[in-house]
Amino acid sequence: MADDLDELGDLEHGEALEEVPDPDGDVVIRVRGLKNQFGEQVVHEGLNLDVRRGEILGVVGGSGTGKSVLMRSIIGLQQPTAGEVSVFGAPMVGRSEEEARGVRRSWGILFQGGALFSTLTVAENVQVPLREFYPRMGQKLLDEISGYKLVMSGLDPSAGEKYPNELSGGMKKRAGLARALALDPDLLFLDEPTAGLDPIGAAAFDELTRGLKERLGLTVFLITHDLDTLYAICDRVAVLADKKVIAVGTIDELLRVDNAWIQEYFTGPRGRAAEHSAEQAHQEQAA
Ligand SMILES: Nc1ncnc2c1ncn2[C@@H]1O[C@H](COP(=O)(O)OP(=O)(O)OP(=O)(O)O)[C@@H](O)[C@H]1O
Ligand SMILES: [Mg+2]
Repeated sequence: MADDLDELGDLEHGEALEEVPDPDGDVVIRVRGLKNQFGEQVVHEGLNLDVRRGEILGVVGGSGTGKSVLMRSIIGLQQPTAGEVSVFGAPMVGRSEEEARGVRRSWGILFQGGALFSTLTVAENVQVPLREFYPRMGQKLLDEISGYKLVMSGLDPSAGEKYPNELSGGMKKRAGLARALALDPDLLFLDEPTAGLDPIGAAAFDELTRGLKERLGLTVFLITHDLDTLYAICDRVAVLADKKVIAVGTIDELLRVDNAWIQEYFTGPRGRAAEHSAEQAHQEQAA
């Protein structure tokens, strides 16, 4: 980000303010007073959230509490009823996709369910964002980059020739991740990346996410129901309930919050099992 600021050095103050990243740089996503309403149904009201640079923030909450709608509001696919959202210091509310282009260039998204284009091969899917932002890029380079992104996502480059319906569930997730990584993002949105994977596949995907975060310095907004994922890779967790983020912190901090849903979620049988397996993994690493 410091480099980006340098490039703007000679501009009159205010001229390029729209795209100047957050000067203190520590908060990548800032949501304030968010409201989302569909007809009579109020999904969010007075929702606040900060996602810090370099963290994996897990977002949890019961089904239908509005996790996906929150993500869609942040990336500008859903115009909120009220409130403010900024990403890298750039306001997202009330902007067209075109206006938000500079910010969209800096993130990658893995949608719930993968959302690969079924009529395109895997390689062509990965190339979609590249073609959008670099329309003059030649086919050879497109193929090289998509092959590289597939390998980064744990797939064999030969998977690029396949169509999505020829892939297993786990391979589809990896292909979706490869597409999300196409533009070398600073920020990654993952909506239920391990849903529908067997436990081994889910753990492998978690490791992949953590490895990418560490190697590439990514900030990750990660919606999940998967308690193992929360324990294994999330730096902090935000809990969505009652139309807002009712608590955010490390799992240890959340365990001290006096709230029935949080207590049941983390200390119920599944929560305890996840904690136990996370502890075992730590011990094995230490040994
Ligand atoms: N475009 C829309 N129009 C009307 N209602 C919507 C729309 N999008 C979402 N909703 C409603 O908003 C609520 C929150 O939906 P959302 O998909 O964000 O839930 P979620 O927390 O992601 O759930 P899950 O864990 O099942 O994925 C739901 O009641 C849903 O029906
Ligand atoms: Mg959802």
